[in-house]
Order: sequence, then C-alpha cells, then structure tokens
Amino acid sequence: MQSIIVTGGAGYIGSHTIIELLNNTDLNVISVDNFSNSSSAAYEKIKQICSRSFETIELDLCDKQLLEKKLGSLENVVGIIHFAAYKSVPESVADPLLYYHNNNTSLINILEFCKIKGIQNFIFSSSCSVYGNADALPVTEKTPLAKAESPYAHTKQMGEEMIAFFCKANPSFRATLLRYFNPVGAHISGKIGEFPLNRPNNLVPIITQTAVGKNSLVVFGNDYPTRDGSCIRDYIHVSDIADAHVKALQNLIQKKGLEQCQLFNLGTGNGVSVLEAIASFEKVSGTKLKYTIGGRRAGDVVAVYANNTRAKEQLNWVPKYSLDDMMASAWKWQLNIEGSNNS
Ligand code: UD1
Repeated sequence: MQSIIVTGGAGYIGSHTIIELLNNTDLNVISVDNFSNSSSAAYEKIKQICSRSFETIELDLCDKQLLEKKLGSLENVVGIIHFAAYKSVPESVADPLLYYHNNNTSLINILEFCKIKGIQNFIFSSSCSVYGNADALPVTEKTPLAKAESPYAHTKQMGEEMIAFFCKANPSFRATLLRYFNPVGAHISGKIGEFPLNRPNNLVPIITQTAVGKNSLVVFGNDYPTRDGSCIRDYIHVSDIADAHVKALQNLIQKKGLEQCQLFNLGTGNGVSVLEAIASFEKVSGTKLKYTIGGRRAGDVVAVYANNTRAKEQLNWVPKYSLDDMMASAWKWQLNIEGSNNS
C-alpha cells in the first residue's frame, strides 16, 4: 500500500485534510507533528469521525537527525503534504527569527528527505500573504508578488522559491504550491476544529471565544481605504481547503498537471471585511458581539481576495461552503468545546 506523509497533521488544516484523505483515498496516512501549536486530541477526534486508521509520529522537523531516524525506514511513500509551520502574522512580526528558523529549516530538512528517499510528489502550504499589498484585485497566480508585509509572509515567499529551485535541480520531483487565503470554520460534524494552545491571533476563533466570554474582540483598524474601513480578506472553509489537497495530490500522482511546479490560489473569490465577518457570525449564532475598534495591526495587508479559476479548472475543485456556513461551523465547534469543558 502506498503511504502519504502529512506534516503538521495534528494542526488545524492538517487534521481536516487527514479526514478527507481517509474518506476519499486508499492511501496509508502517516501524520508527523511535534504538537508545538496543536494537541494529540485532534487525533482522537479524527478517529471519532473516520473508520479507517492512520499512523502518527511525534517529531520536530527542525531536528534533522531525529527526522532521519524516525522517518528513514518508511517505504512506499508516494508523497508529502507539508503543513508543519508557524502561522501567526503578529507573532512573526514580534519574533522574526523564530519564523525564519522554524519554517525554513523544517522545509529544507523535509526536501532533503525527499531527495534521499526519492519521494516525488510534494504539496506546500503557501499563503495569499505572498501577494503583499497587490496593485490589482482579485489576485491571480500571475499577479506579481509585492514586498512581504510580515516575516510569516516572507517565509512563504522564500519557501515557494526554494521549492521551485529544488524542482529545477531535480527533474523527477513535482510540487504543488497551494496559496491559502483565510482558512476558517470547522468540520461540519462539529467534532473537530482548531485547537489553538495559546491565545489565538486569528479573527474567527477570537470572535467565537468572545461570544462565550473567553476573549475580547478588537477590530484592528476602521480607517483603511475599503468600503467600511476594515480590512478585506477571502475567508474559506477549512474543509474546502482540505478537499483541494486531496484533489491536488491526485493530480500530482496521476501526473495530470502540465508544470513540474504548479501554483494554485485557494479562496472563494469573495472579499469580506472584518465588520461583514462579524455581522455574518452575529446572524448565524443569534449572538450580539461586543467589540471595540482599535488601531491597525502591524503586518496586515489592506485587502486581498482570490481569482480561483485555475484551481477550479485544473483541479476540478469548487468551494462548497458560504461565509455563513463557515461561521456556523466555527460556532458549533466552540459550543462543543464549551460542552466538553463543562461536563
Ligand atoms: C494571514 C494570511 C493567511 C494565513 C493566516 C494564518 C494575509 C493576508 N493572510 O491571515 O493567508 O492563512 O495569516 O494565520 O496575510 N483581525 C481583527 N481582530 C483580531 C484578529 C484579526 O480585526 O483580533 C483582523 C485582521 O486585522 C485581519 C483579519 O481580521 O484584517 C483577519 O486576520 P487573521 O485571522 O489574523 O488572518 P490574516 O492575518 O489575514
């Protein structure tokens, strides 16, 4: 049986992708995670949702010797989906070297591992943050990359280039770079979602935590040149992102893609302001949110949303969930967490 390694498999997008891999492929799934911003509880949740089992390995990918020791004996690995990385824009602004060290070292180590083992298919978690403040919206994969607004975004730009050069040097290696816009929401079952270990930095978990009185929401800026003054993003349901990974992997394995190193935007194509996201949450939850307006957050771009035509045409991928679905699923997950904490 062929295996797929999922790095960061206990994380937010990784865990949702494992569910889609178990439900929609015959591959043996091997999750690799060091639980730096995740928990093995995610694995228990996957087991509640999927009947098929999967393997787990605890490992920090920055530790090259341990990587070779723990993964070196794996056979029949058809590909790697590489999620493992730090992902907070504000944290990266506060501690740039942490991001350069972790995100780049782990990527170098995993690419070297691919070379040693002859693993030919690779999917990389990139981000719309690589576009910076683009001149024209929506952004297509051909939009020139502007200056990175944060070290996090810069590590994604560097990662993409590293992989592109690695492809050129290794003709049998094929890579797909997926530029996520803003992944939000939780699995439709409400049984699994994001398990941030520390105070989350992302908007949607802060909204749902605020609604249950565990956080306080500040809207970072209402003086941007947008329709209501708040920043605009392209929020996309995490299960739609997970589904795109399965399709991208199948496309890679079947060698359908024309290019050795392919790029896809994964967004809905809809630009949504922070205030509109809050309004959608209030509507689906029936909860009025208390929030304040604060100053701009360092590292934020003003507005970004996707042209997703390429992913639709070449991966046969269509995002299924609306903004209201995203908020409703995030809320269901938050209420599930509250239920387990109270029981
Ligand atoms: C960024 C990346 C995204 C990546 C994500 C990972 C960009 C454009 N996008 O998302 O590709 O997947 O990091 O974490 O860089 N906000 C508030 N109050 C809060 C929190 C957030 O107003 O308490 C606002 C932010 O200013 C922003 C929006 O909500 O306008 C979304 O923020 P967040 O959820 O943190 O994601 P990004 O930083 O946009």
